[in-house]
Amino acid sequence: MMDVFVTRRIPESGLKKITQKYDTYVSPKPRRLTKEEIIEGVKGKDALLCILTDIIDEEIIEAGEDLKVISNYAVGYDNIDVESATKRGIAVTNTPGVLTNATAELAFALILAVARNITLGDKFVREDRFEGWDPTLLVGSELAGNVIGIVGMGNIGTAVAHRAKAFNMDVIYFNRSRVDEVEREIDAKFVDFEELLKRADFVSLHVPLTEETKHMVSWNELDMMKDTAYLINTARGEVVEEKALIEALKGDKIAGAGVDVFADEPYGANPGYYDLDNVVLAPHLGSASHRARNGMAEMAADNLIAVLDGKMPENIVNPEVFENGGY
Ligand code: GLV
Ligand code: GLV
Repeated sequence: MMDVFVTRRIPESGLKKITQKYDTYVSPKPRRLTKEEIIEGVKGKDALLCILTDIIDEEIIEAGEDLKVISNYAVGYDNIDVESATKRGIAVTNTPGVLTNATAELAFALILAVARNITLGDKFVREDRFEGWDPTLLVGSELAGNVIGIVGMGNIGTAVAHRAKAFNMDVIYFNRSRVDEVEREIDAKFVDFEELLKRADFVSLHVPLTEETKHMVSWNELDMMKDTAYLINTARGEVVEEKALIEALKGDKIAGAGVDVFADEPYGANPGYYDLDNVVLAPHLGSASHRARNGMAEMAADNLIAVLDGKMPENIVNPEVFENGGY
């Protein structure tokens, strides 16, 4: 029988597929495991199912001498040293698609919240300061007729584009390649990154974190944005140079930001944001809908099972490991 290590309890819909088939150890701890705990956990295991707060580095991969698959319970896989896994013939898988709607909706939740001062308004009411309608109270920006600049036109970027269209926004985008579907269906315009920054009233980030995208929004980029524009980050914290964003928000260089991800994850957020009124913060909630999380659990299980059955999983990050027919 194959042995599986699961670093954190995931929804039952996926977990039961694994426990029915394999000898499975599911960490009972309601927290992120330490590196030492993961190293202990992968020893002698055929498969690892991990979450995005687990940093799966070379040392862990080496300790898992029998590993055939690392199934990540996330679409992003910047937490995994894919190169080391590939070198050892270990398949790495992720969970795209099932969290697309949830993440696109969260991006819009942040856009609307920051543009219309929802969190400030909530606080204002709770502080018992509301004394009736006020013509100048918390006046914000509309979406209709404004330009959204989408950075990264993958599944999530595309889902954001469709929602933007429904709000009567003009969509411009920057991506490694042009995406016919959004150009045809919603008249999205492909522009270079600089033009996007200069023209957009809302800049929304939907790229994975890679060497190329790390700090792709820093001082220069924030400086190019309109002082009335908003930055929305539901991708990864390190796509933005956080220090620069905090300074830009402090100095009103841009109008505001909606931030779901932080550079210091998995260790926490950046306290530099806490006193700023022009930012809406969320604790990495992009995929946090019941449907998305259940779908991710089933997909992560199916990917893991496929590899242990000697098949190419549907969501393979490093297909090269199957060139010689799997493990
Ligand atoms: C969430 O951030 C994910 O990558 O699934
Ligand atoms: C991956 O980038 C996705 O959009 O699902």
